[in-house]
Amino acid sequence: MNNNFNKSSDIKKQNIIIDTADITKTYKIGDIEVKALRGINLKISEGEFVSIMGPSGSGKSTLMNIIGCLDIPTSGDYFLENIDVSKLNDNQLADIRNKKVGFVFQTFNLLTKANAIHNVELPLIYSKDKIRNKDKKIRVALKSVGLKGWEKHRPSELSGGERQRVAIARSLVNDPTILLTDEPTGNLDSVTGEEIMAIFQKLNKKGKTILLVTHELDVAQHTHRIVYLRDGIISNQEKIENPIDAEERLKQMPKLEDKMNSLRKSKVL
Ligand SMILES: Nc1ncnc2c1ncn2[C@@H]1O[C@H](COP(=O)(O)OP(=O)(O)OP(=O)(O)O)[C@@H](O)[C@H]1O
Ligand SMILES: [Mg+2]
Repeated sequence: MNNNFNKSSDIKKQNIIIDTADITKTYKIGDIEVKALRGINLKISEGEFVSIMGPSGSGKSTLMNIIGCLDIPTSGDYFLENIDVSKLNDNQLADIRNKKVGFVFQTFNLLTKANAIHNVELPLIYSKDKIRNKDKKIRVALKSVGLKGWEKHRPSELSGGERQRVAIARSLVNDPTILLTDEPTGNLDSVTGEEIMAIFQKLNKKGKTILLVTHELDVAQHTHRIVYLRDGIISNQEKIENPIDAEERLKQMPKLEDKMNSLRKSKVL
């Protein structure tokens, strides 16, 4: 375990794109105050793949929401690519979120009546700037998650893993600075979850910075660094020297179909 991760010399040399300085977040419900974050100092370098772990209620989603510009801290500063996000108004926040952040959620959050193309198109529609080569951008995003040929399918015509791929393509279409994902494999079986981790690792190898929240140590061990939250503070950080290689692991895993067949044979199903 390494408690001094942010002080390590190797991180200083790299381009820091996420920098939170003593961030706190207090929610007020009537007279009651909930201190969700109590002073978070976190730096993430360009090209890193970082996971956040911690018990339920420790502040993981609150921190992700602030890093993703969905919310602002109660106190402290947050710099995203050297822009002090904590000082922005709602419109500026929405603009920076659209340009710089891609989100992938546990429940996919796709439009049920729209096909893959139209789901992936959404961030481009919300963009304030005129987007050139829209169709090409959408096709490239879908291809990068292995969904070439599935463009016209609606979510109900796709498996859970394919839906999550559409969500990842949507998060990538604006070429964001950082991809944020909260429990992306939480609703998936282990093989499909591993496939999704393989996509994240491939994107990361191509340079995408990724921040992932998970309850599963095994999932976190696919990343470069685990940040542990407890009661709204960082309780520990751990560098993963040899992250699990999802592609390699998939080769060892039985295909879902084979697993179902063997369960059928043993009359469990
Ligand atoms: N909008 C809100 N209003 C009031 N309290 C909130 C709000 N969002 C979160 N909280 C509180 O802040 C604390 C941190 O919540 P958060 O959702 O960040 O935890 P988490 O680590 O993501 O938990 P989980 O693993 O269950 O998703 C909790 O005590 C929660 O009840
Ligand atoms: Mg959460």
